Formats: sequence, structure tokens, C-alpha cells
Amino acid sequence: MSEKTVYYIEGDGIGPEVWKAARPVLNAAIEKAYGSTNKLNWVELLAGEKAFKETGEHLPQTTMDTLSKAELAMKGPLQTPVGEGFRSLNVTLRQVFDLYACIRPIKYFKGIESPVKRPDLVDMCIFRENTEDVYAGIEYKSGTPEAKKLIEFLADEMGANVDITAGVGIKPITPAGSKRLIKKAIDYAIAEDKPSVTLMHKGNIMKYTEGGFRAWGYELAEEEYKGKVVREGEEGTGVIIKDRIADAMFQNALMYPEQYSVIATTNLNGDYISDALAAQVGGLGLSPGVNMGDNLAFYEPTHGTAPTIAGKDLANPGSLVLSGTMMLEHLGWTEAADLIHASVEKTLSAKKVTIDLAAQITGATQVGCQEFGEILLANL
Ligand code: NAI
Repeated sequence: MSEKTVYYIEGDGIGPEVWKAARPVLNAAIEKAYGSTNKLNWVELLAGEKAFKETGEHLPQTTMDTLSKAELAMKGPLQTPVGEGFRSLNVTLRQVFDLYACIRPIKYFKGIESPVKRPDLVDMCIFRENTEDVYAGIEYKSGTPEAKKLIEFLADEMGANVDITAGVGIKPITPAGSKRLIKKAIDYAIAEDKPSVTLMHKGNIMKYTEGGFRAWGYELAEEEYKGKVVREGEEGTGVIIKDRIADAMFQNALMYPEQYSVIATTNLNGDYISDALAAQVGGLGLSPGVNMGDNLAFYEPTHGTAPTIAGKDLANPGSLVLSGTMMLEHLGWTEAADLIHASVEKTLSAKKVTIDLAAQITGATQVGCQEFGEILLANL
């Protein structure tokens, strides 16, 4: 008997309705694959608007305390409260729990109309560093005393000329931060028998930040994975480690998607390539993800709260279902995960889908969020 506790946050906007449709699909797949031997024990934690209504706080301390000891959690989208002084709840969760790897598989499901000719060749998984880079938030506005002070320091102490009117930002990238992310990507590639890991960077221009990321990636491969990986162009067997400059990576992902499998990259590059690749296979409605640290894996759909369709039974619960499916794979419950993938394909080929997918499938019939969940469940 294997029972796992999953802490879940319902989320704002479409959160409650996508959960209502998605959770029965996950439970049913587990039951179908394992009978009563495997089970998820769902425990709700409060966050977002629901938490604010009940406790006066958007992220109550009890939620944070529980998550600090948790292994598995899943969340619906959280709205960033509007107004000065509110930080994004998502960013807070990532920082507090040091969820340094944002992992997004990008895989094509038959039946979706894609803007590219061979979306079926796209089968990639992006590992995006989540804590460093220009996202560290060290930025100074043009014309402020802080910006001027920094620019003057650069001129006086470092001999570096920056226009005094410039806005300036700092881009920290560390060996440790890069290596722990790249390690997750290589471990995944080895465990899942993937052909390659590509280090995506802009190191030709930003030599000591982006270039550092590349160099530390190869260093890690050399130090910790001898015999298990091989550098592109060298003799040997194992997962191929290669690197591509970011601009070439975007071009190659469109022209030769079959050459890329696991991609490990810095924060900003990862932000861009995630959305570009998701578009190649049909967009947000079926895009799952996880933010992972060393202790906690926090699964979430990549979409937001979709306020304009919230409460109207229009949302696609597919991203949440597939995020849960990633969690099942992480647990090694692959039979249940396979059932769900097969059900999604079957459901798409029957063309009864939510509004977002109906727009991408010729001759589709639109169904609501709950009905789509019921169809996914029936097709397991
Ligand atoms: P969004 O993802 O909520 O919406 C973008 C577009 O996609 C909208 O047209 C929406 O209707 C549609 N859409 C999104 N999810 C859908 C689904 N499951 N089914 C059908 N259509 C769907 O992004 P937006 O509008 O930029 O953000 C809205 C709010 O969500 C903001 O408060 C933002 O801070 C928050 N947000 C939260 C995220 C999270 O919790 N991880 C991620 C992104 C945004």
C-alpha cells in the first residue's frame, strides 16, 4: 500500500472549477491502475483570496509552516493582489521554499492544430533556473540617486562607462545556482532515458553570467557524471551534453525539434523558450509544470487565474490534470500517468473540448470545464 499526502491550494479565479474537474480524473486513474493499493491523500491549504476571506491574510502562517515540512504540493493559479506593497504570492512561495527549478514538459497531443508543420517532433522538457539572473530584482530606475551612484562607482572604480541617465539592473548567476539546476536536468535525462541535455545560454555576449552557466554545466558533467554522459562530438556513450546559444536555440527548436530533448537554461531564457515551445504544441490549455526545490515539489498549471472566464464553466482543466500527471510520474506511478496521457489523446481526437481547444481544432464541439473533466475520466 502506497499512500502519499498532497497538500493543495485551490487558487483564485478559475482555480476552484479546474480543481473540481481535475481531481476526480487523477484519483480515478490511480484507482484504475492500482486498485486500492496506491492512494493520494489530499489536504487543503489556504492561500490567495480564499485565505484572505477566512484569515485576513493571503498566505497564512499555518500554510507556510505545513509547506515547510511537505514533500508534495499542488496549486491552482493565484492572483497577485492589486495595490502597492503586495508581492506576487507565486514569487513568494518560490523564494521562501527555494523552488529553484521550474520544470515544464512540452509534448504534442495528436489532434491539436499547431502553427508548425511537425509538432509531433516536439518532445522536450525545460529546466529553467528560478532564483537568479535579472529576476533577482536588483534594479535602479533611470535618474535616481541609486542609479547614479552605481554608474559613478562603475566609472570611478571599474573604468566602465555607462550613460548617467541609464536605468540599470544586476544579473547575478552563481556556480552553485547553475549546477544544482543542471544537476536536476541531467538526473532527469538519465532516469527517463532521454538522449540529450542542451545547455541554453547567451554566453557569447554575457561571458561571465550566461557563459558561466555553460562552463559550470560542463564542469558538473565532468565532475559528477563520468561514464554516464558524453559531450557532443566526443567519443563515448550516455546522455549527450551539448550547448546552444539562445538565439540559435529558438531557431533550432522550430527547424530541428527532434534534435532537442532536455533543455537546461537560465531564468530569463527559460521564461522566453517555455512560452515559445508551448505555442509550438498548442498553447496554455495543456501546459503543466512544477517548481521544485530539494525538499518540496510544487506542481501547478502554467496558466493564470483567467478572470474573464472564471465561474463560467469555460476553463480547461487540462493543465492541472497534466500537472498532477507529472506528479504521478515523479512518484513512479507511471501506469496511472500513461492512462491519463492516453485519455487526453482519445478525448482530443473525439473533438469534444473546452473553448480554448475548440478554437484550435477544426470541427470541434465545445463543452464546459466539468463536462471535459467527465470525458477525460470516462476515457481513462
Ligand atoms: P492567464 O493565464 O490567466 O490568462 C491568459 C489567457 O488565457 C486568457 O485569455 C485566459 O482566459 C486564457 N486561459 C488561461 N487559462 C485558461 C484555461 N485553463 N482554460 C481556458 N483559457 C484559459 O494570464 P493573465 O491574464 O496574464 O493573468 C491573470 C492573473 O493570473 C493575474 O493576476 C496573474 O498574476 C495571475 N497568474 C498566476 C499564475 C500562477 O499562479 N502561477 C501564472 C500566471 C498568471
